[in-house]
Amino acid sequence: MPSLPHLQRRRRQFLDHLESPVLLMAGGQRPRNYPANPYPYRADSTFLFFFQDPEPNSAALFDPADGSVVLFVPERTPQDALWHGPVPGFHETKEQHGVHQVLDVDRLVEHVRTLAKNRRVHGLAVADPKATALLARITGEHFDHDDPAKQGQSSLIQALAELRMAKAEEELAEIRKAVAVTREAHLRAITRTRPGLHEHDLVGSVEGTFAQHACVPAYNTILSVRGEVLHNHRHDNLLKETDIVLLDAGAENGSGYCADVTRCWPSGGRFGAEGRDVYEIVLRANRAAIELVKPGMRYRDVHLRACMEIADGLVGMGVLRGNPSAIVESGAHALFFPHGVGHLLGLDVHDMECFGDSVAYAPGRTRSQQFGLSYLRLDLDLQPGMVVTIEPGVYFVPAILHNDEFRKQYRDHVDFERAERFLTMHGLRGFGGIRIEDDVACTKTGHEVLTRDIPKDRAIIEELVGVRL
Ligand code: GLY
Ligand code: MN
Repeated sequence: MPSLPHLQRRRRQFLDHLESPVLLMAGGQRPRNYPANPYPYRADSTFLFFFQDPEPNSAALFDPADGSVVLFVPERTPQDALWHGPVPGFHETKEQHGVHQVLDVDRLVEHVRTLAKNRRVHGLAVADPKATALLARITGEHFDHDDPAKQGQSSLIQALAELRMAKAEEELAEIRKAVAVTREAHLRAITRTRPGLHEHDLVGSVEGTFAQHACVPAYNTILSVRGEVLHNHRHDNLLKETDIVLLDAGAENGSGYCADVTRCWPSGGRFGAEGRDVYEIVLRANRAAIELVKPGMRYRDVHLRACMEIADGLVGMGVLRGNPSAIVESGAHALFFPHGVGHLLGLDVHDMECFGDSVAYAPGRTRSQQFGLSYLRLDLDLQPGMVVTIEPGVYFVPAILHNDEFRKQYRDHVDFERAERFLTMHGLRGFGGIRIEDDVACTKTGHEVLTRDIPKDRAIIEELVGVRL
């Protein structure tokens, strides 16, 4: 877990950016159906950036006038102790979190009014609508957590983004821990694979591994022989000998920091000829893009490097025609690589995505309208401390290959007849898709592949399939 001195340093850095008080909300528990049956609690990521293991419904007031941080937590009641166990009293909580004062969150409105002394207070929307509504009442601001433009004052968001963007060594250590658990989960799934299992058998191995290490899935696990469905959360297919399994899963450890890793392997232990070719193309794109990660490099150029590798490889397979640069310029490669090469990673698996492109795109840069490039989630110049994913893929998607407009627009560059063969191969299952995803930290001089110990060489992956039957 990040140490208290680390968290206090982060709070001081935040206070240095402020001119007036800021109230942050942790968010509360949200019900699955009736209130006493909530989803597992997960505090807002910005709150987790400053506080370790915060209590549901807590809030914190940062005041630049005196550099104070006041934490608000629920009053301790015998009823709560009965149902949920005892929690430390306010004095112990104050010591534990290293704050100036701990007050009752049930009286948040009046406490903030007293502490702010007529000064304007600003806040940040959180996913919990009740907490956001309370914040709006206190600050008089209009929030909408679903709209990146309505998360809070833009200067506040830029200040938070600047801090959260550059991961300190203690944060990288948390991501490394999540990566280590993720490695074990991927290895367990690969080594337990055999035709005849269901996808959910392997999901059990993955998420069971997370649980054994006191972690949770950082996002809904994607484990599918239908890898062409990019965020496929169904797990009911039976594995067949010729299937390619795609696993996109990452652990989130108790501190909230995440990993996000994708590996693919043949269900029967050996890729077929097309599987081999596509795997090697995606691996080359993954490695070429990673090579570019260094300070000052524009992330869009990292993406375009992966596009070039994929275009070149698919020309070699006869699926695309022409010069790779012309193909990438036209966007024809995106019919097979329709998403961006990755995103920021941290306390959110798509780190700070709730803040929108005002954080993810550099000033003056806007999203392309072109299919594929329009899904690029990040267009910043890389800086030391940023952690990004690099996750190129190649997919054979019926809805894309059967789309009349694409077929007309890209008829010069795409051999649709050849591409369509991938939709019916593997006993009519179709090829699916292959994605290879690593987590990469930008360092002062280049990069560190945080996920380097999770195998991705094709021959090694093939050797691992089913060894633990
Ligand atoms: N891990 C899923 C994604 O990056 O979208
Ligand atoms: Mn990802």
